[in-house]
Amino acid sequence: MNSLIGLQCHVCKATFPAEAIYVCDRCLGPLEPVYDYSAITLTREEIERRPKNLWRYRELLPITGEPRTGFHSGFTPLVRCTRLAERLGVRELYIKDDSVNHPTLSYKDRVVSVAATRAVELGFEVLACASTGNLANSVAAHAARLGLECCVFIPNDLEAGKFLGSAIFGPTILAIAGNYDDVNRLCTQVADRYGWGFVNINLRAYYAEGAKTMGFEIAEQLGWRYPDHLVSPVAGGTLLPRIAKGLREFRQIGLVSGELPKIHAAQAAGCAPVVRALESGAEHPDVVKPNTIAKSIAIGNPADGYQVLQTVRGTGGSGAAVSDEQIVDAIRLLAETEGIFTEPAGGTTLGGTIDLIRRGLIGPDESVVVCVTGNGYKTAEVVSGHLTEPVRLSRAFKEFEAWWESRKALA
Ligand SMILES: Cc1ncc(COP(=O)(O)O)c(C=O)c1O
Ligand SMILES: [Zn+2]
Repeated sequence: MNSLIGLQCHVCKATFPAEAIYVCDRCLGPLEPVYDYSAITLTREEIERRPKNLWRYRELLPITGEPRTGFHSGFTPLVRCTRLAERLGVRELYIKDDSVNHPTLSYKDRVVSVAATRAVELGFEVLACASTGNLANSVAAHAARLGLECCVFIPNDLEAGKFLGSAIFGPTILAIAGNYDDVNRLCTQVADRYGWGFVNINLRAYYAEGAKTMGFEIAEQLGWRYPDHLVSPVAGGTLLPRIAKGLREFRQIGLVSGELPKIHAAQAAGCAPVVRALESGAEHPDVVKPNTIAKSIAIGNPADGYQVLQTVRGTGGSGAAVSDEQIVDAIRLLAETEGIFTEPAGGTTLGGTIDLIRRGLIGPDESVVVCVTGNGYKTAEVVSGHLTEPVRLSRAFKEFEAWWESRKALA
């Protein structure tokens, strides 16, 4: 069952044992797990028989023993959205809805399930992360369940719901005066000095693999096929290239055939280093200073930016940058047409999709999967000023009747 061979540098291909190593010591390139694909005998039927969580693809995940957490994470709904598709003028549109991922309502429950399991295998006693909010929520919840000590580092200006979503699980929260990129720099130093298990630093190679499960699920839930297009948000750049990797691996082991979808990157205009690089033709994104309401994806110096550019260009995808106003409009549109409440990251992805359709890059007769990665209840302040106020009445029927009749008269 165990097909994990070791780690390999994405750039120079040097190999390393499957330990908590952050980057290649020869070229500083990112490391990724290597599997013996010839030893994997997974079939569609075998996968379909398994429990509906992300471990149904465990042969393609970088652990060596049994899963320790995440038994209800992943396998989130792939929702066919006919009303939204009609509004946008596209034939087949699906929302991959990680806003209801278990237990902390974002795509991060995938990556943390894998990283936390690997952290236990490697003997870490403290689980930590650098986060824009959702990751901290997920690390805190999974650490609580595993009985691990937990320390999360976040920028000090996050939304109240993001702060509360960590605090409830009882971790130590370090709210740092600075943006995510400052927090990440500090955490790299802490990981070096204290040897804690930082899921997105020294455990990053394992963590990132958890994101492949979104790609696996999309292919399986579409009936073992690829869509024509897929739109993913980009912050640190973990998710987008791993969706592609997951889709590619399914083809490699014979579960799906055909061409990979065109994979498009959506970012907030106030923090769009990847989209700008796609526009300018740069090989690496230039660092930017974030300024957007989409705080969960406000990362100006994406760790895996290079892989995102490679994936988008390699699949024939494009980039879309979305203003804060368009983000709020897209959040409301998704809620009002499909009953799905997402946070600004999801508004960015849908806003980006709308832009790609408008530019003719997604055609009216094509299929598209839009990855909604976080939940709107955590970021209430972003939409609260934009919604219709309730009708406030006394308990008296007469008052209700007067209001209803006057409203009817106006209609
Ligand atoms: C809700 C949400 N969506 C998307 C992302 C994108 O993350 P990445 O590009 O680092 O995978 C994040 C993370 O930071 C997030 O919190
Ligand atoms: Zn290297």
